[in-house]
Amino acid sequence: MKTEERTYFIRTFGCQMNEHDSERLAGMLEAEGYTPASSTEDASVVLFNTCCIRENADTRLYGNLGHVKSIKDRQPGKKIVVAGCLAQKDRSLIQRKAPYVDVVLGTHNLSSLPRLLRDSEAGPSFEILEQTETFPSALPTRRNSPWHAWVSISIGCNNSCTFCIVPAVRGREESRRMGDIVSEVERLLDDGVVEVTLLGQNVNSYGRDLDGTPMFARLLYALDDVEGLMRVRFTSPHPKDFRADSVRAMAECGVVCEHIHLPVQSGSDRLLKRMKRSYTQGRYLDKVRMVRDAIPDVAITTDIIVGFPGETEADFAQTMALVSEVRYDGAYTFQYSPRPMTAAADMPDHLPKEVVQERYERLAALQDEIAIERNARHLGETEELLVEGISKKDPGRLTGRTRTNKLVHFPDDGATEGTFRNVLITATHPHHLEGESVDAPVETVPAASTSRMSLPLVATTATSGCSSCS
Ligand code: SAH
Ligand code: SF4
Ligand code: F3S
Repeated sequence: MKTEERTYFIRTFGCQMNEHDSERLAGMLEAEGYTPASSTEDASVVLFNTCCIRENADTRLYGNLGHVKSIKDRQPGKKIVVAGCLAQKDRSLIQRKAPYVDVVLGTHNLSSLPRLLRDSEAGPSFEILEQTETFPSALPTRRNSPWHAWVSISIGCNNSCTFCIVPAVRGREESRRMGDIVSEVERLLDDGVVEVTLLGQNVNSYGRDLDGTPMFARLLYALDDVEGLMRVRFTSPHPKDFRADSVRAMAECGVVCEHIHLPVQSGSDRLLKRMKRSYTQGRYLDKVRMVRDAIPDVAITTDIIVGFPGETEADFAQTMALVSEVRYDGAYTFQYSPRPMTAAADMPDHLPKEVVQERYERLAALQDEIAIERNARHLGETEELLVEGISKKDPGRLTGRTRTNKLVHFPDDGATEGTFRNVLITATHPHHLEGESVDAPVETVPAASTSRMSLPLVATTATSGCSSCS
């Protein structure tokens, strides 16, 4: 790294909200004249956008900081920035544990980054706010993908799931005006985007703070009318707020993909109550039935927590029974991790690690069996894929995603990322499919007018995904 250079590298942890925030942090740095670097070693600003959803996220951050400090010892001009949920949670603790960090900012003041970096010339600068002042949508954004965009529809969360630290670090729910969302999508289309993913901690309560009634279904219809938009995804709906009008909108809007991520957390009514999830297994199953009746080919995925305080073998059996009944296309399974500022952390009967591990493995084995069976349904079918790039594992193959969010690898036929291919599925596995393109091979075009990148698409931000990222 040359000291006069202004370059940045962002390492992102956690969920899609954080990935999107990193795009904004990158956008602001580029607006200030910084250019992307390919590693922490080469960057004059190294930024960690952090997550604190589970305890191992904390441990990993401090490990990573230690590593960058050793580089900074050799490159004294290097700036280290910590942003995001863990910064919001740990506040001044970061500076006590890692005094060499130059800038700390939280989840509510992304826009302060350029000012805080300038202030850090005079010494460490630190700013954590309690609530977002303005919806961060006006910030410049450096998207990671030319053809896909995250679109924030709400920030924060008004629920109080007893295991979850998100409300404490992301604040109260605030919806963005529908007109602003639609205009942003229209601008993105002009920029070459074909697929958007709507982001909110609880997308189905979107609009409640604007109009008194949730407006998520209306938003889907409004986006269906946007000329040229090919695919809309969203994450995540809360089962308690997922209602018939949203299901109808999903079924009626051709642009909305046939996939829903519906986090269940547990199959036990007793635990769901202790988790404050506001539904029972029976009501959750009603919602699953409602979606499948309206969209028979829908893929359903979920999040499940194993080992919540007080979970008995009978409670866990209820989770296994629910998973067998729903037959999820995929499930992100997590071992319960006590978090500060959450009610569950103070509950009695935390479970021994070995008990949780054994249940976790049993659940993962069951879900893998089910995923194999669910994916096998696609064998011999032709699927429309949105091409994402060259496969990370095999440079001779391309990777694309079906509307149902399944990854498919197929031999490189010259297709470029962000285009659509029809692919015959020839083999299925628990976490991906294989296929062969049935479209005519793409003729080679001059290199300047095409983009043929390996995944990940841009190396300036690296994501260490929490597996809540679907
Ligand atoms: N807003 C999203 C969830 C965000 S957190 C929603 O409600 O769907 C993503 C997932 O992390 C949660 O669904 C939950 O399964 C998991 N999670 C949250 N807190 C956790 C904890 N303390 N321990 C283990 N897993 C947790
Ligand atoms: Fe956390 Fe529950 Fe809010 Fe999701 S809905 S972010 S799990 S409190
Ligand atoms: Fe924050 Fe997302 Fe993690 S909201 S705590 S980065 S899962």
